[in-house]
Amino acid sequence: MSFRSVFVAVVIAFGLIVSAFLINLARPRVEVAQPTAALVEASGKCAQCHERQQYSVVHEYEMSAHARKGVTCLDCHQPAPGQKKVDHHGFVISDHLTAGNCRSCHEGIYQEFLESRHAAPAWAAINGEQGLSPQQVAFSETYQPGGTKRPPNPLTLPEGHVAVTGGCDHCHAIGKPNDDGTIGTCTDCHSRHADSVALARLPSTCGQCHMGPDHSQLEIYTESKHGVMFAAFHNQLNLSADPRTLTTRDMWVPTCATCHMSGLNGIGFTHNVSERLSWYLTAPVSTHRPDYAQAQARMKQVCAQCHTSASVDRVYQQAEQQVAATNARILVATTIMDNLHKDGVLSGPPFTHAIDFTYFNMWHYAGRTSKHGAFMGGADFAQWHGNYALLEQTVELQHQANELRREHAHK
Ligand code: HEC
Ligand code: HEC
Ligand code: HEC
Ligand code: HEC
Ligand code: HEC
Ligand code: HEC
Ligand code: HEC
Ligand code: HEC
Repeated sequence: MSFRSVFVAVVIAFGLIVSAFLINLARPRVEVAQPTAALVEASGKCAQCHERQQYSVVHEYEMSAHARKGVTCLDCHQPAPGQKKVDHHGFVISDHLTAGNCRSCHEGIYQEFLESRHAAPAWAAINGEQGLSPQQVAFSETYQPGGTKRPPNPLTLPEGHVAVTGGCDHCHAIGKPNDDGTIGTCTDCHSRHADSVALARLPSTCGQCHMGPDHSQLEIYTESKHGVMFAAFHNQLNLSADPRTLTTRDMWVPTCATCHMSGLNGIGFTHNVSERLSWYLTAPVSTHRPDYAQAQARMKQVCAQCHTSASVDRVYQQAEQQVAATNARILVATTIMDNLHKDGVLSGPPFTHAIDFTYFNMWHYAGRTSKHGAFMGGADFAQWHGNYALLEQTVELQHQANELRREHAHK
């Protein structure tokens, strides 16, 4: 064989190897990555059966960061401490998964979550201390004073059990005490098998619960400049960027998570959604939180990644004026209600008179909306769903109070 033909053969062979390599690179990652023996052992058998029954479950898992890092089906599904064991086709699995099945690998995040109002206080808002251990109550109270040590919400009694389990609990179970001694769930934001940060960063994920007339955060966001920009440019954002190295080059338009949780440009991300809040905005009359100054500084530091501090201060000044104005209106209404009770004009349990609802709607819908709209860039919510409704209901409440006093005088 001549040197020339050997040379041609070598060149052709090399070309083939390179093109095979390039084609391989272009294939989806799951096809390329060969599972380890342990992965086949722990996930392969589960996947074999479940692929046929719930293809979506296995598919989501295969695309997840967990599969890439060799976390197996059994790593999550094995019984965590305190969980009931179930024999399952040759494996022992847990009968119900909780935050307890995530904390073994994400303990730090679980602890941050526990300190937030997403944990015990969210549950206690409906059910009081019921179901929580004294230790859990004490722990939460050190971070969220008054959040857990309180009676069940008065609305749960007249609405009844079905309304509470079918309605309130669906959103507030984010902080439900579990049988295994842990609190809450991580999958409300991450989902069970995709376990994605991209999903958690979408406004619609928070909007599962943060919507409606009493906390219109999703609607406010959608009409804000931030929401409009997000709708236009979300395809250009790097929604799955690693939280530890997230920059404004990845997320140059903020979502709920950016302001309340993310660590833009190295400022550190948190699972304590309360950490950056300076006011108790859900309260009828809003007051400062115990860590008002630090909390406000933390949030302003987030805004400062994209805005000048002068423009951020302007937003806060206006919003705090709105808080003061709403407080003043609600205080007038509260005084009217208190006097009706004091003079014996109004008696009986809560939510039995029309005026109870006018008062409740005033602070719970219009009052909150005016404040939330002012802080999060929703002018329509601050005004037409907020301030205008407050004015109308002030007149209505006064009218109802006068009527009640007239009837009472006749008796
Ligand atoms: C031999 C087939 C087979 C294997 C292997 C298998 N499963 Fe299942 N799995 C099923 C079937 C069928 C069901 C439906 C309920 C039942 O029969 O238990 C099910 C149900 C489940 C459920 C729902 C249980 C419930 O109470 O709703 C989970 C979770 C589950 N499997 C996880 C796993 C995990 C994790 C593995 C691997 C450690 C695994 N399965 C291995 C066949 C299998
Ligand atoms: C990151 C943790 C995690 C991994 C990994 C994981 N699962 Fe799950 N899986 C969950 C959670 C959480 C639930 C909800 C269970 C509950 O509510 O009790 C669940 C539920 C399920 C269900 C019931 C689904 C339904 O809607 O009824 C099946 C079946 C299941 N998993 C199978 C698997 C299989 C098969 C694998 C591997 C291919 C796997 N899981 C990997 C966390 C995980
Ligand atoms: C056996 C350990 C283990 C368990 C159990 C586990 N994880 Fe993970 N998780 C990991 C590892 C490892 C990574 C990859 C981290 C990295 O990229 O450095 C990860 C990454 C993640 C991510 C980031 C995904 C992304 O898009 O970047 C989320 C979200 C997550 N886990 C949520 C959960 C949830 C929710 C549960 C419980 C249902 C859970 N994990 C259970 C080990 C675990
Ligand atoms: C499953 C329902 C649910 C989801 C999903 C959810 N939340 Fe919440 N969130 C709640 C409930 C319930 C409360 C009220 C807790 C309480 O009682 O104070 C709350 C409270 C909050 C608070 C106020 C905390 C405080 O200290 O007053 C913030 C901020 C917040 N959530 C942000 C978010 C963000 C950001 C997301 C999405 C990444 C999100 N939430 C997703 C249910 C949810
Ligand atoms: C659609 C989901 C959803 C439903 C249903 C729901 N809530 Fe909430 N609730 C929330 C969210 C989200 C917040 C946080 C709002 C905020 O911080 O602005 C909240 C806040 C609260 C708060 C104020 C915070 C606190 O801890 O004191 C109370 C009280 C409350 N809810 C009680 C109830 C009661 C009682 C019901 C049922 C009669 C109910 N909720 C139904 C999502 C819901
Ligand atoms: C209110 C919604 C919400 C809940 C509940 C929640 N997360 Fe997250 N999680 C997020 C968001 C948003 C991010 C991304 C933060 C960012 O933008 O950088 C994240 C990021 C993560 C990451 C990636 C961190 C890394 O270093 O790569 C892990 C792991 C994680 N969460 C686990 C958990 C676990 C475990 C729980 C339950 C104890 C939990 N999450 C509960 C919203 C949530
Ligand atoms: C541009 C930043 C930004 C975005 C985006 C944003 N928020 Fe907020 N949010 C704020 C600020 C600022 C406050 C008031 C903080 C304070 O009390 O000092 C606030 C208040 C809240 C509160 C009220 C807590 C209370 O005391 O009642 C909740 C709940 C909340 N946001 C949830 C959300 C949700 C859900 C989304 C997305 C649909 C969202 N936020 C989008 C900045 C933002
Ligand atoms: C990740 C970047 C980012 C963060 C963080 C951020 N914003 Fe923005 N903001 C934007 C962008 C982009 C716009 C649209 C600017 C334009 O019109 O070109 C905007 C617009 C605004 C506007 C409307 C400006 C106008 O004149 O119409 C206000 C007000 C505002 N932001 C306030 C805030 C506040 C307050 C915070 C913190 C609580 C915040 N933003 C956090 C990116 C951000």
